[in-house]
Amino acid sequence: MNAPPFITSDDLDRAARAVRAGSLVAFATETVYGLGADATDDRAVARIFAAKGRPDFNPLIIHVDTLAAARSLADFTPLALALADRFWPGPLTLVLQRSADCPISLLASAGLDTIAIRIPAHPVARALLNAARRPLAAPSANRSGRISPTRAQDVADELGDKVAFILDGGDCAVGVESTVLDLSQSPPRLLRPGGVAQETLETMTGPLSAAPSVEDQAARSSPGLLASHYAPRLPVRLNAIDAEPGEAFIAFGPPPGAVPLAAQLSAVGDVGEAAASLFATLRSLDRPPFHRIAVMTIPETGLGRAINDRLRRAAAPRPVPKD
Ligand code: TXA
Ligand code: MG
Repeated sequence: MNAPPFITSDDLDRAARAVRAGSLVAFATETVYGLGADATDDRAVARIFAAKGRPDFNPLIIHVDTLAAARSLADFTPLALALADRFWPGPLTLVLQRSADCPISLLASAGLDTIAIRIPAHPVARALLNAARRPLAAPSANRSGRISPTRAQDVADELGDKVAFILDGGDCAVGVESTVLDLSQSPPRLLRPGGVAQETLETMTGPLSAAPSVEDQAARSSPGLLASHYAPRLPVRLNAIDAEPGEAFIAFGPPPGAVPLAAQLSAVGDVGEAAASLFATLRSLDRPPFHRIAVMTIPETGLGRAINDRLRRAAAPRPVPKD
């Protein structure tokens, strides 16, 4: 079996067997690392929720390696086929009607009659899908509410004791999760900004209404629960123009005056470059001597929308811990 760089064919074989046996395998994708399980196996899928400590049964994205496999799971509209043709493999997730004979665990799609599907581009993800010969349900490989992992070591730190394997594929090139587009309703709805820019999608879909804001989501659920997500332990301050004492200052583009920089997301102000290093940067600064993380304004264009969505959630009020 041919394995991509970073992993041996032996690793791949064993990981594929672990998937078929119902175990959890973390693997690299081009967006973030996924915590994968056989999506046709209810008990394997239940292990994902348990490992992440997800408070509720949010539906999961189903990963496949071919369009034929995707079409066996869901009803593809002409627009869905056109989007798949243009953006797959890649960081776009399509929500579609489940097909009548769809074998995916209902737990994975939270009992909905729709299903979220994507074909990842990363060679490690594709090799695992191909070797396991199973669709993989895979949320980001972090504990619920925390920052998504973009390096194998991040997965080891958070979930090392919960997974049979971590298939290392190096640093994730995109660095934020896939864009989630709901095509099960008309007009299509953007559910989550991500690795494919809204503006790019709109060239094919027409204008999309904005994804639900952090505030909207918070208002519809228990206070603070959903809003705070993708969060480091330290509080986060947005639109910073200076560093207060104890703050780690993250710049985007030229920093104001003489502020000492803890990190620079992109010296030239490139949102794609900033997305790629966002989560690793937040993780690296989430510790003493800092008391808070302050981030400069990121433009609301291209991948900047995904960055701002994640940063607003990181800065949102935190749920009061229960004892
Ligand atoms: O980039 C990514 O998408 C990563 C990598 C591992 O592929 N995965 C990921 O999965 O971010 P997760 O579980 O963290 O996010 C899944 C998102 C959630 O916002 C969920 O609500 C939405 O997809 N989703 C899944 N199924 C859905 C459905 N049937 N209808 C609406 N939204 C759905
Ligand atoms: Mg996630």
